[in-house]
Amino acid sequence: MNSFTYCVPTKVYFGKGQLEHLSEELAAYGRRILFVYGGGSIIKNGLYEKVTAAAEKAGCTLTELSGVKPNPRIDLVREGVRLCREEKIEAVLAVGGGSVIDTAKFVAAGACMDGDPWELTSPHTAVEKTLPLLTVPTMAATGSEMDASAVISNPETHDKIGRTVQAFYPKVSFLDPENTFTVSARQTACGSADILSHIMEEYFTMDEDLYMLDCVMEGLMKTVIRYAPIAMKEPDNYEARANLLWASEWAINGLIEGGKRQAWSCHPIEHELSAYYDITHGLGLAILTPRWMEYCLDEKNVSRYVQFGVNVFGLDAAQDPFETAREAIEKMKEFLYDTLGIESSLTEIGIDDARFPEMAKKAYRRGLVFAFKTLRPKDVENILRMCL
Ligand code: NZQ
Ligand code: ZN
Repeated sequence: MNSFTYCVPTKVYFGKGQLEHLSEELAAYGRRILFVYGGGSIIKNGLYEKVTAAAEKAGCTLTELSGVKPNPRIDLVREGVRLCREEKIEAVLAVGGGSVIDTAKFVAAGACMDGDPWELTSPHTAVEKTLPLLTVPTMAATGSEMDASAVISNPETHDKIGRTVQAFYPKVSFLDPENTFTVSARQTACGSADILSHIMEEYFTMDEDLYMLDCVMEGLMKTVIRYAPIAMKEPDNYEARANLLWASEWAINGLIEGGKRQAWSCHPIEHELSAYYDITHGLGLAILTPRWMEYCLDEKNVSRYVQFGVNVFGLDAAQDPFETAREAIEKMKEFLYDTLGIESSLTEIGIDDARFPEMAKKAYRRGLVFAFKTLRPKDVENILRMCL
């Protein structure tokens, strides 16, 4: 196993009714709070009222930054930074999905720097200080509420860029599975595809001595495969929502990374799809992942696919390894396209090959040379073509 440093400083309140601690936590971080949320789901499901009541109880003043869109944009971050300065904001509270939380992370950091917040997407911009961030996630997907990453888009330049820095960890997150009951079947499917992808980006590695982490990852993948269809059919099934939500955190909070240094593969490619076509992140990943698996399969890595097929889908370990590997890929497709009902091709969602060369070049610059299998721009184009 590799050497690594592990530090997740986020305090997590998990379970029903844990929002009762919001007022005491808010009061600990400040009185002037920026309240970030999305397009209105929290107003419809009553969470908005609970949050504002908690803030009132804590004696906090809320300044609202609403209207965060999926694939969140830098413009709203700039607006948030302006509000932080004008209102002398002391802490940021994000209530929503990954897009809301990521926006809040960039605002919290942008408020503590001099330049334009887009500079935060550059690895050359140090991020040492941020306003304290508290989150109430409403979807099981990105795990942003317990990780050090945030992703932001600039639609004018077709850029969607992620940044990972220790300072992005939220201080406190309130994970009540009941807050995810109103997530649609479609978003539940896409969120689940995202969680699976976070695990697979780590699981498909050439490192070999990771037995303990492999077991954890296989358990996490089985959890998603077991509970996503249940949550889609029975949106208020607490057990299903709770398992998905907790799995989403451990898929991305650094545990399963275990010091591996390999770059992710599907995420950089998907971010280009979202940057150019504004599609849902999990949808793009669902279309890409099985094709990426097919494209990368070879003599050197086939044993990884076999382990995945046997331990996650219960395939027969005794047959020809390539046969098991191909069956495992078919199982992934069945799960994503038949069970979760996600579209299976880019053509179905109206994307053609017109921008593939430029997207492939941009994705490649995000480190694909260091991925599970080295991917150069031509490889990325080939994978995208397989998705048509
Ligand atoms: O805007 P509202 O009205 O709240 O509706 C949202 C939105 O339309 C809705 N929703 C969320 N919670 C709901 C709900 N609807 C009903 N009931 C609820 N409880 O769902 C829609 C999608 O929300 P969004 O926040 O965009 O989804 P998600 O959590 O999947 O976030 C996706 C974004 O996160 C980035 C993605 O690239 C994408 O931009 N990622 C962030 C990562 C991170 N920070 O670590 C890692 C990921 O790999 C990912 O790249
Ligand atoms: Zn993701």
